[in-house]
Amino acid sequence: MSHAPKVIVTRKLPPKIEERLSELFDVELNASDTPFTPAQLRDAMQRADVLVPTITDKIDSALLGGAGPQLKLIANFGAGVDNIDVETARTRGIVVTNTPDVLTDDTADMTMALIMAVARRIPQGLDRVRSGTWGGWSPMQMLGGRITGKRIGIIGMGRIGRAVALRARAFGMEISYHNRRRLDPRIEEQYCARYDERLDQMIARVDILTLHCPATPSSFHIMNARRIELMKPNAVLINTSRGEVVDENALARALRQNKIAGVGLDVFEHGTQINPYLLEQPNAVLLPHMGSATQEGRLEMGEKILINIKTFADGHRPPDQVFASDL
Ligand code: 8YV
Repeated sequence: MSHAPKVIVTRKLPPKIEERLSELFDVELNASDTPFTPAQLRDAMQRADVLVPTITDKIDSALLGGAGPQLKLIANFGAGVDNIDVETARTRGIVVTNTPDVLTDDTADMTMALIMAVARRIPQGLDRVRSGTWGGWSPMQMLGGRITGKRIGIIGMGRIGRAVALRARAFGMEISYHNRRRLDPRIEEQYCARYDERLDQMIARVDILTLHCPATPSSFHIMNARRIELMKPNAVLINTSRGEVVDENALARALRQNKIAGVGLDVFEHGTQINPYLLEQPNAVLLPHMGSATQEGRLEMGEKILINIKTFADGHRPPDQVFASDL
């Protein structure tokens, strides 16, 4: 690109990142942070050389079909790219990049936080103290489940799944994983993780089941009603990946019927429209998609965006290019 590329950013990013974007490129920012409507996205894609969307922008084949010929790069602010039709982008000659690695540890930390919160009933304890209903210590109050020695099953052993395994090991858990492809035995050894080829078998054995797979057509409702039924009654399900991988209604039913002990969810199947039953349950710890929400993480995601756009604008392959075949 001979001129400074026109970059349209759909949401408000950290000030330092917005400043640097403005120094380097011809940038349109979103000061109000109001999510773009499909019409605004269409307009942006007709004018921008580079679009910087987030998970709140659904870039489907129809929108890609209406993009101007100048749109050459979609630099997603996020690791997951399920909001973008990557294959259609490729056929239209549009490169897609993401922001991997920099949110791995933060998301794994939040997974552990949810495990602890559900198993040790932290939100219920907080409520009791805040509401003034705590009458002092007693031997049988607020008993949760011990984490040490428990079996954790990790579905999806990519970057975040492995980071969870490292942490689970430090907590003294026994680790099983299921993945599309088995890891090299040396890597399994490094993470002290046992491969379970049969997902159903793993689900039926573990005390904590945690999801770390991307949202793809093959992972949609990977935890369906039948698989949720396989879980042990004392088991908990944790999801910090994408809501669509769990049948949320079936999960709420299982909780209601005491078929599982609790859930920790950072993501929901229908965005902010959360199953009302889940909202009322003390053993459902629900967070508003905070897995990667750290000051440091957001800055590093922004750095990745800058590097991907600058490298691309200078005529090179951006480091975090995403290919449909990798998903
Ligand atoms: C991001 C995420 O904050 O990066 C991801 O895939 O799920 C989040 O933690 C979000 O996607 C930003 O677009």
